[in-house]
Amino acid sequence: MSSNAESSTPSKKRSKWDEDDQEDEALIGRRQLNAKRRVKARSQTSQSTDSTPIRVPTEQTATQQHASNRQPYSFYVPPRTCHPTIQPARSVYCYERLNQIEEGSYGVVFRAKDKETGDIVALKKLKLDEEKHGFPITALREINALMSCRHENVVHIREVVVGDTLTQVFVVMDFIEHDLKSLLTVMPSPFLQSEIKTLMLQLLSAIAHCHSNWILHRDLKTSNLLMNNRGTIKVADFGLARRYGDPVGVGGMTQLVVTLWYRAPEILLGAATYSTAVDMWSVGCIFAELLLKEPLFQAKGEIELLSMIFKLLGPPSPSLWPDYNNLPLSKTISLPSPQPPQFRQRFHHMTTAGINLLMSMLTYDPELRITAEEALQHPYFTESPFPKHPDLFGSFPSAAAGEKRRKPFDSPSAPMRAVNANLLTDNDIA
Ligand SMILES: Nc1ncnc2c1ncn2[C@@H]1O[C@H](COP(=O)(O)OP(=O)(O)OP(=O)(O)O)[C@@H](O)[C@H]1O
Ligand SMILES: [Mg+2]
Repeated sequence: MSSNAESSTPSKKRSKWDEDDQEDEALIGRRQLNAKRRVKARSQTSQSTDSTPIRVPTEQTATQQHASNRQPYSFYVPPRTCHPTIQPARSVYCYERLNQIEEGSYGVVFRAKDKETGDIVALKKLKLDEEKHGFPITALREINALMSCRHENVVHIREVVVGDTLTQVFVVMDFIEHDLKSLLTVMPSPFLQSEIKTLMLQLLSAIAHCHSNWILHRDLKTSNLLMNNRGTIKVADFGLARRYGDPVGVGGMTQLVVTLWYRAPEILLGAATYSTAVDMWSVGCIFAELLLKEPLFQAKGEIELLSMIFKLLGPPSPSLWPDYNNLPLSKTISLPSPQPPQFRQRFHHMTTAGINLLMSMLTYDPELRITAEEALQHPYFTESPFPKHPDLFGSFPSAAAGEKRRKPFDSPSAPMRAVNANLLTDNDIA
């Protein structure tokens, strides 16, 4: 492998675990033996030295203390049992590497098997080796956001494990068979309206949950939406997520967020603060992509993207977006002459309610853009065809699991026409 190729890998100090070669079983055996010895030695030392074990106040002792009028801890501090016990991270060697799924900008994702339980999981190795100032904030945000947004439609984080060095940190998640982007490219036909409704309801419910927990995702796109073979979507990749509404961020939120095609116009025009509406714009782009089976705004750059948006929505006017002229980059943009929105022409198969929902997501003014909670109540979801039950979704071979699309059967050809009319039976003629 060339040195260039090596430098494009996430970690210069690759652990034995994420190398292509088969695991060195002898090395693992030695490792486990050493670990056991260390634990044994530690427990022996603690047994010999800890003649007076530290007493953790139990509920009973706390009550007894309270009864004797001594307040053991502040009234406002929750009981100790509410805090998870602090444990060291397990080793990545608890997992057997199966295959690499994908390398993205923030990490490499592997499929692996839990050696203890046999569960198939996904391990995302965080890119840490460029860091000179400790553990990167993006990685902390990703882990924190995943942990604080637990939901049926958010990918489930199981644990964080470590490799041989401090730069080898892996997030362990449930393995999900597909991402929507890859799935849309291999599906022979687009999703049905009833299926799109189910997927949108799941996505909106996950986003409503994140927003109610003060988390902005900031990178919603089809490749970050995973889908299992039971018709359930899981929002993934919280690498750009952050807590919003905290005073630290006021006036200084980065504009380097959201993959270009899914980026809201207020970010494109340099808004210094933005909120949940940026995610809702991306949800609108995803909705359109599900309908069209291809991304809505496939622009090469920001200017081209803005002109595509102006074409679909009609250029912004003070009545549509009163704050437009206050945005830092609005003066540098020359607006095209006014023209009506083109939604109806682009989405001619959609019902009026469907177009209305799409337009409320793709609305210029972030203040007027629909919220995830509001969108969940939209009449589009209660008109026919109704959302399909997830169990009724078809399943597809998972590229991430190395499954291949089954070759279609060599179906028998149609029978030759009977040459001799005498051979036809009565049934053939009837
Ligand atoms: N839990 C998972 N199960 C199965 N596949 C996954 C899982 N998590 C991620 N993937 C796959 O890995 C890809 C990259 O993961 P992710 O988006 O988290 O990494 P990233 O480095 O932030 O990517 P990018 O910058 O390209 O968005 C996903 O698009 C998906 O195909
Ligand atoms: Mg991603």
